[in-house]
Amino acid sequence: MPLVNVDWHLLRARARDAATRSYAPYSRVRVGASALTSSGEIIEGSNVENASYGLTLCAECALVGDLVRVDGGRLLAVSVVAGDGEPLTPCGRCRQLLFEHGGAELLIDAGEGETPRRLDELLPGAFGPEDLKTRATS
Ligand code: THU
Repeated sequence: MPLVNVDWHLLRARARDAATRSYAPYSRVRVGASALTSSGEIIEGSNVENASYGLTLCAECALVGDLVRVDGGRLLAVSVVAGDGEPLTPCGRCRQLLFEHGGAELLIDAGEGETPRRLDELLPGAFGPEDLKTRATS
């Protein structure tokens, strides 16, 4: 990871704010995500549920959408919190989404006073874009 100072308090505050603007009428679990990007911006996302439950978009999906929208480069550090304000560990699908845009070294908030975790701790042996380059046979 590039040597950058991550303001985890700020990231968590932005994630908490995003959680207040989620759409979660079914589970009532509001989730907000924020990230520091390689372009130096802080981006956000919130979960958006659907009456067809399986179509729910996690906060991290919206976060990645925001990253692409602002042309923010790579994800460097991510905080995901639930409506209670406490960090939430990204679900399996979202670990894969985050891996695409942040890689193994992406730092994930583990909460106040805790050491952030690298994504490869949460998603060891990940399949990613490099595999597509090296494994295609035609
Ligand atoms: N959720 C997220 O937004 N991110 C996660 O990583 C885990 C789950 C949302 C999806 C759904 O709206 C609610 O939390 C309950 O599963």
